[in-house]
Amino acid sequence: MTEARITVNGKETPISPAAPHTTALDLLRERGLTGTKEGCAEGECGACSVLVARPGVSKPTDWVAVNACLLPAAALDGQEVITSEGLATVGEPGTPATLHPVQKEMAVRGGSQCGYCTPGFICSMASEYYRPNRCAHGNAPDTVDTPDTADPAGSADPEHGPNGFDLHALSGNLCRCTGYRPIRDAAFAVGLPTDDDPLAQRREQSPPAPVATEYARDGRVFLRPSTLAGVLRLLRERPDAVVVAGSTDWGVEVNIRSRRADCVVAVDRLPELRELRVESGYVEIGAALTLTEIERRLDGRVPLLAELFPQFASRLIRNSATLGGNLGTGSPIGDSPPVLLALDASVVLADADGEREVPLSDYFTGYRQSVRRSGELIRAVRVPLPLSPVVAFHKIAKRRFDDISSVAVAFALDIEDEIVRKARIGLGGVAATPIRSLAVEAALEGEPWTAETVEAAARMLEAEGTPMNDHRASARYRSAMLGQSLLKLYAQTTEGVSS
Ligand code: FES
Ligand code: FES
Repeated sequence: MTEARITVNGKETPISPAAPHTTALDLLRERGLTGTKEGCAEGECGACSVLVARPGVSKPTDWVAVNACLLPAAALDGQEVITSEGLATVGEPGTPATLHPVQKEMAVRGGSQCGYCTPGFICSMASEYYRPNRCAHGNAPDTVDTPDTADPAGSADPEHGPNGFDLHALSGNLCRCTGYRPIRDAAFAVGLPTDDDPLAQRREQSPPAPVATEYARDGRVFLRPSTLAGVLRLLRERPDAVVVAGSTDWGVEVNIRSRRADCVVAVDRLPELRELRVESGYVEIGAALTLTEIERRLDGRVPLLAELFPQFASRLIRNSATLGGNLGTGSPIGDSPPVLLALDASVVLADADGEREVPLSDYFTGYRQSVRRSGELIRAVRVPLPLSPVVAFHKIAKRRFDDISSVAVAFALDIEDEIVRKARIGLGGVAATPIRSLAVEAALEGEPWTAETVEAAARMLEAEGTPMNDHRASARYRSAMLGQSLLKLYAQTTEGVSS
């Protein structure tokens, strides 16, 4: 058994004697780093945010904010973590600490009252502060210290500050007493990291290498084999193993449902699951790339995915969650399946004997069930090219961000000379599995893209699936939203209605 260690704020921190299911949040707090808070313990409030050094998109390393409440501490073996305590620079004993620029802006602009949420906001803000190319959206100020410049009034894009700060970086952080205006002012006032900033310098070096982990305590074990072959062998030997990548589901199971798996296998750092390739006939997306990595690496090349990402939970969740995980759980209300169904995507399944490719439309077989066999792992998702040009993703949820869909609809249409040549429609939240609306696709194909066609198809779409009544929405509402989605798409294509 190897000893597992995390470098926290520059200091080596052994994980032992924590249990394998101990979250990073609990470990940090047990070790005295109580700035990291527990609010919800299920990835919805961001009070637990910390920074992790991860492979970068445009620099070797990015400082990525994640929810420590969802992450097994053992998954951070060999990794580097910065908490809110590690952002300030502590001088000689008896001298005051020097606040990090984001801490300073939060303090001077009144961004903190009770302070419970503040360390989490600070870590999410720091992640955005260190995002390379942040100022591509702004004026690239070296310092911004007048309240006027923090006011986005008149800005064409109210979600980006004059300093390029993307407010979506804070979409996973909740504050219950300050109000968001002073927090936004602080975010829009931070300048650029200075050249001697150690965390900015750290981005120029390679990220911590993944390490093979075998962390066992009290009959339970957390395993991270270093190769895909090692994982597949293990899955054959241990069919009971729980596979985790971003752990955004695992954390909820552990914290809220008290689930304790005997064997957890981490696949998030496997190189074979982290490739993104654009081939002549398809785009292949590694199952363990995080949604943020996919979003930034594709940079809009798959427009329907680009519509999905901002609506898929919060930035904190997208910094950990993966497509493999979203498909692997088989949830009927995952946000990616409707989009991937509309894209005609397939999944590449691997086991110790080889690989097979399954169209996503054949993948789901029942509530949280799929054709994936015991011992099989999702290695990648393939999106065929060329892409249909008319696309939309409509997510109907009680909150705009960071909420589960009541119903989700994705469209991908080829319309040429006002005739629908091809239609793909993916639906979530209306049946035991994500489904394609085959009947409406057939009703649209070959027909003119007119109000009459669309209205008739919208009535058909309302009849799709077997939506249920629950606390999120009534069945009637869900059905009505299906039809409205198609009408909205028509308005978007003909009247320039925005999404
Ligand atoms: Fe709320 Fe982690 S404690 S997101
Ligand atoms: Fe109190 Fe945010 S300052 S919850």
